[in-house]
Amino acid sequence: MNSRMYDFSFILPTRIEFGAGKIKKLPDILKEVGAKHPFIVTDPGIVKAGILPVVEDLLKAVIPDYIVFSEVEANPKDKNVEEGAKLAKDFGADLLIAVGGGSPIDCAKAISILMTLGGKIRDYEGRNNFATLPIPLIAVPTTAGTGSEVTFSSVITDSSEKFKFSIRAEGIAPKVALADPELTVTLPPMLTAATGMDALTHAIEGYTSLLAEPIAEACGLYAVSLISKNIRRAVECGEDLGARANMLAGSILAGISFSHSDVASVHCIAEALGGKYDAPHGLCNSVVLSEIMEYNLPYCVEKYSEIAKSMGLSFSTKEEGAQMATAEVKRMAKDIGLPSFASLGVKMEDLEEIAKNSFRNGSNSSNPRPMSEKDYLTVLKKLMSQ
Ligand SMILES: [Fe+2]
Repeated sequence: MNSRMYDFSFILPTRIEFGAGKIKKLPDILKEVGAKHPFIVTDPGIVKAGILPVVEDLLKAVIPDYIVFSEVEANPKDKNVEEGAKLAKDFGADLLIAVGGGSPIDCAKAISILMTLGGKIRDYEGRNNFATLPIPLIAVPTTAGTGSEVTFSSVITDSSEKFKFSIRAEGIAPKVALADPELTVTLPPMLTAATGMDALTHAIEGYTSLLAEPIAEACGLYAVSLISKNIRRAVECGEDLGARANMLAGSILAGISFSHSDVASVHCIAEALGGKYDAPHGLCNSVVLSEIMEYNLPYCVEKYSEIAKSMGLSFSTKEEGAQMATAEVKRMAKDIGLPSFASLGVKMEDLEEIAKNSFRNGSNSSNPRPMSEKDYLTVLKKLMSQ
């Protein structure tokens, strides 16, 4: 048990509508919000997957005057935000609807800031660097990973610096998360695997970060249980709606957890790698997670043994449980077909820059074990040698 005295406040501004077929609720929600000029933010993959027409048909029935912006890239860039904000502002958008994984939802949050407050999106880096947002956002997740549909954060890539930065504020949390597991069944196995490991990382980091409070801990721990018991099935049999629903619920709980706590060193490295190589976020987390868990283990024996319990593992001592949780994470990534660190093609000469960018990430101070730039370099060198 945690012996420290808790001291926290908890707010969840997002209304969560969850269930198979729940997307059909969109017209009712639009009427309640009273929007006249919705602006849809999505990406080419969603258009290709045929999910966008489902949303558009429901939208057209109540509000014919809308615009679709489908140019969001993976690891959304500052230029995507600028382009979207200009279009949304010119259109007079009074509601944003983000459809997709973390990229469109994070981009929509940033568009909302920029079209309202102007300037450059990097100006808003950090925590609570603005008051509130007048443009509401409805988030329709199509992956079980990011949790962005309920989080207070948006991660954007500064394309000139190749650096991912975070904007965090309660004001950017979506007004409604319309979470329909049926929209996730067409997600290909590799994306299911990578986004699922992102969700697992949110759960583990949200639960163990130094900023964790009891609600974040409870959400993170149950998310570990849902994700670890369903990820293999969701990857292997995408049409299993039960597994998909459990994954989506797990990713939302993990999102609530890390929004009220924080992510930590796994995300610090993953974001440095994603910024440098434009590599998939979930994969970047997956290749680093067990290595950072090993680094953190002496500081996390109690919590890692709870994680092992949540994964359904049996053990006799807490130390054994903690080690089993770390091993299970590694095994899970392998079972679902995710490649190793080597697949990212990281160059030895880039390691110092990656270590530096990991260290300057705003979540570094939340890692349960202190981590210097040199420590990051040591972990990265270890990963390179595997
Ligand atoms: Fe993440």
